[in-house]
Parts: sequence; structure tokens; C-alpha cells
Amino acid sequence: LGAAALTLAACGNRTAPTEAGTFAPPPALTPKAGQNVVTQTLTAAPTTVDLGGKTVSTWAYGESLPGPLIRATAGDLLRITLENRLPEISTIHWHGIRLHNAADGVPGMTQDAVEPEASFTYEFVAPDPGTYFLHSHVGLQLDRGLYAPLIIDDPDEPGDYDAEWIVTLDDWIDDTGQTPDEVLAALTGAGPSDGGGMDHGDMPMGDDGPGGTGHGGMTMGGEPWGDAGDVAYPHFLVNGRVPEAPEIFEAKPRQRVRVRLINASADTIFALALGDHDLSVTHSDGFAVEPVTAKALYLGMGERYDVVVAVKDGMFPLVARPVGKTSGGQALAVLRTGSGSVPAPDVQVRELDGEVLIGSTLEPAETARLEDRAVDTELTLALQGSMQPYRWAINGGPYGQNTPLSIREGQRVRIIASNQTMMTHPLHIHGHTFALPSGLRKDTVLLAAMESFALDFDADNPGRWAAHCHNAYHQEAGMMTGIDYA
Ligand code: C2O
Ligand code: CU
Repeated sequence: LGAAALTLAACGNRTAPTEAGTFAPPPALTPKAGQNVVTQTLTAAPTTVDLGGKTVSTWAYGESLPGPLIRATAGDLLRITLENRLPEISTIHWHGIRLHNAADGVPGMTQDAVEPEASFTYEFVAPDPGTYFLHSHVGLQLDRGLYAPLIIDDPDEPGDYDAEWIVTLDDWIDDTGQTPDEVLAALTGAGPSDGGGMDHGDMPMGDDGPGGTGHGGMTMGGEPWGDAGDVAYPHFLVNGRVPEAPEIFEAKPRQRVRVRLINASADTIFALALGDHDLSVTHSDGFAVEPVTAKALYLGMGERYDVVVAVKDGMFPLVARPVGKTSGGQALAVLRTGSGSVPAPDVQVRELDGEVLIGSTLEPAETARLEDRAVDTELTLALQGSMQPYRWAINGGPYGQNTPLSIREGQRVRIIASNQTMMTHPLHIHGHTFALPSGLRKDTVLLAAMESFALDFDADNPGRWAAHCHNAYHQEAGMMTGIDYA
């Protein structure tokens, strides 16, 4: 533990190349009698992918964007091997899954990074059904395309729906002539770390230029989030497709479609709606909520929502509008249940003009509530920093220089998460699903500028866990800390 922490501190806030051999390989898990085993290999490699008439060179799992769906039933043993064919180290993190610590995929915290040409097998049991995703936890590899949906089915409760649509949102940078690392280097003013040719004239930063101003907590057209992202992306994707050639999902009129929404983007909060339809929100980050009917809802980076839709007859655009972004258009997919023409890439849906549901205002289903209990320890997690200079930190310092929160197994923990910045951040905690004061269970929560939440959870999963902003650029710039079981 000490050695790893020192390595990280010495390397400042960037992903530390940890020394090989710091972590023992996790013990192999043996399936219990009758336990189903889901075995799959994910190969991370440079590849070209077709975003819908537009071909880009990038990094992906299994040569597809998103990577291949992984699906299991709660209680199954997942045995997933990462084959690393990238020119860099990598890992996989299973976002939202309350798994054992050694499989959590955080380099330097739970495992040694997987070297190029090496492989690593993750074995874990997924205890809770729900909508999740997986992604690399090294640097900005998520923003290159190293993510895939992960669905855990409920063995007891098949759910009241006829068809299922998995909708994974992304912001796409990789054909701008800059890698995400070069974009971050420009934001931090550090310059390109590897001398790669960076052209400031092409910086995808929008009108403000690098380190743009205007993050003063203002609202954009009534959005509660202010100017929520740092990078001006040329494209926004649904299931790896640009809006000029959207995915078309087929269903029959009057069917009930469960739409599993995943925001896998690095830097973009979306407001999402399905034209002419109401969304019945049933789950947030995998956990059941008291169903609420909404016209539209926000999705922060790392958040997932399940909605059920009673579909009408025709052709309907599903639109995800990036909050606070002035270039790159929107993300689009299409629901087809009858005749009609494919909507234009810039189609507008009136559902996005009215009230957009803020997920943290949902109430939990009774079955999802934490048991009532006194809090044993209260800790503060303060999100700090600014756009200019581009510095992000937690509790006084960037990752590697701040002190992990220390808890003990068996405690009811309350973390006071307080956003002390003028920008919105999605806070994600690994290995646990916390409860907001309403009881709503989440693992990723949007905190608007200067907003605070008390996050309660039971310390029932010992280890060293990451807690960080799920804006990949903020995280990589240091907006991360640890939660360690003493
Ligand atoms: Cu999806 Cu540590 O994050
Ligand atoms: Cu952030």
C-alpha cells in the first residue's frame, strides 16, 4: 500500500506507471455448485471503426464501438479476460458493480496495470441486477472508445416489458487531429507530453479557446448545470453512430420497450428525450426508483437510467442534447414502429423544451432503501479547483497528494460531498452504491456548482476504492481520491 501511494505521489496527478509486481494476482474464484459462469475475452486494440459513413482510427474493444455487450444474471460468476493489444498499459473497471476490490480495475490502487501484449482475467460476482458499463481506468482511454455496456439481469424479476433497447451515449473527439491526452495537455498548459505535433489553432475548445472563461456557474438556457464540459467535440454518438446514420431500433406499436440509458461520454452531460413519448423512469444506476413519468431527463457522465416507453406507431427520434456545448450538434437514434422517414440529424423534439428531470430528485423504491441506522462516521469529500488555471482536486490536493478517506468495515458511513467549484461534476464512488438523503441509491451523482449531498453507505466491501469526478479530464487532472478501509 505504502509503495503504491508513494509511486503515485511522485508522479503527480497523471496515471502513474506503477512498478510491476506491486499487487499479487487475485486468487482464482471457483464457481459454487450450480453457479453460472460467464466467460468472455475483451481485446483492447487500435482499430478503425465506422461511425456511420465516417471511418475513424481509434482504440476499441473487439473492434467495435461500443465494445461487445457483456450480459450476466445477478449471482453469476463473471470471468472476463482483458487482452491488451494497445501500445500502452490498460485495465478494465466495472462501473457501478459492487464487486470485490481486487477486480475493480484501478491501476496502482487495486492492481498493477496490464502491460501491452499482456492479459489479465477479472473474476467477480455481480450481486445487483441493473444497467452498468465497463471502461478502461487508465488515463483518457475511455474517451478513445474503450467502453462497453454491461447488463446484469434480475433472476427473480424479469420486468414488465416486451423489448429492450440499450442506448450508450458518447462524445467523440478522435478525428480532430488531437488525442485526448494532447487536449488535456493543452488545457493544463503542460504542453504535449510526448512531443506529438499539437496545433493550437485547431484546438477543439469552442469560442473561448483553451481554458475558456465563462465557468461562472451561469445557467445555459435554464440548465441547472452551467457550462458543464471542457472539450468541444465534433460529434456526439448513440451506440457508436453519428446522427447522419443513426441506429434504427425496431419495435411494434403498443409494445413496452425498456430503454437502458448509459452516458459513457468523457465530458458531456446530456438532456435526453424520445419524440412524442413519455419516459417512465424505473431505475437509476441499476437500482429501482418510485416510477416517475418525464418528458426528458439529464444524464451525467457515468450515470445510467432505465426508462420504459409505451411505443406509438411511426418513426421517432431519440435525441440527446449535449448540455452547454455549442458545436458538434447532438446525439441521435431512431425508434421505428411503423412508416415515416428517418429524422434529420438536427431534428428537434419539443420534449426537450420543457422541464428536464434531474435524476437526484427521484425517490427510491422501497426495496432499494438502505436499512435505517445511525451514522458511525462522517467524512468530507470536497471537490475543488477551477478551469483557469485548469486544476482539479479533492480535499486540498490532486490524486496522489490528497489523503484517502479512511473508514472501517461495519460502519455506516456518511460522506458529505461538497462541490466547492463553479462547475458541475459527476461524483462516482467505486465498490458501493450510496444513498442520497431521499434514500435514492446511486453510484454516480451530479453535483451542480456549490451543491452538497450527504451520501450514506454501509462499509461492507473492504479494500481501497476510488472516488472521483467522472469527467475524465477532471479525473485525469487529479480530481480523484481513495476510500480506504483501515
Ligand atoms: Cu466509471 Cu472510476 O469510473
Ligand atoms: Cu469534474
